[in-house]
Amino acid sequence: MALLPILEYPDKRLRQKALPVESVTPDVQQLVDDMAETMYAAPGVGLAANQVGIALRIFVIDTANENEPSQFRAFINPEILEREGELVWQEGCLSFPGVSENIERAARVRVRALDRDGNPFELEAEELLAVAIQHEYDHLDGNLMIDKLGPLKKRLVQRKLQKRTEARP
Ligand code: NI
Repeated sequence: MALLPILEYPDKRLRQKALPVESVTPDVQQLVDDMAETMYAAPGVGLAANQVGIALRIFVIDTANENEPSQFRAFINPEILEREGELVWQEGCLSFPGVSENIERAARVRVRALDRDGNPFELEAEELLAVAIQHEYDHLDGNLMIDKLGPLKKRLVQRKLQKRTEARP
C-alpha cells in the first residue's frame, strides 16, 4: 500500500470530470486500498480518486469515529438514485485544509455502486454518510464544496488557501 499525495484547491485537476471504471481489476483494487490508506492517514472521512489526481469514478468513505469499528466502503461508478429532504452539515474536505463550512445537502440519499470486489450494492444513507456520499460524488464531476458557498465566504476561503500556497517553501 502507498500514501498518495492529495491535491489541494485550486489545483485544476480537481475540476476534471472523472470517467467510469471499465472493470474492477487488481490495479483498481490497489488504487482503492491506497486511497483508503491515504484517507485514514490524513485523517478524513472520505476521498475521491480525482483528489489524488486519478480521474476515475471511485471514492472511499468511512464515517465511523475513532471508538467505533470501521465502516469502510468503496464506491466504484456510483449513481445517486434518490435524494430526499434537506440538511445543513459543517463540512470539511482534504483538498481544502483548515476549511469547514455549513453546506446544504439532501438529508437522505439512495446510492448504487460497485464495491471493491466489483459487486453491485445499493445503500440508503442519512446524516453524515449521506453528506459524505454527496460530497464525494460531487468531486467525481469536478464540483467542490466552495461552489456551494456565497460570494463572500467563497472569497475568504480562496484567500485563506492562497496564503497557504504562498507560505509553502
Ligand atoms: Ni472533498
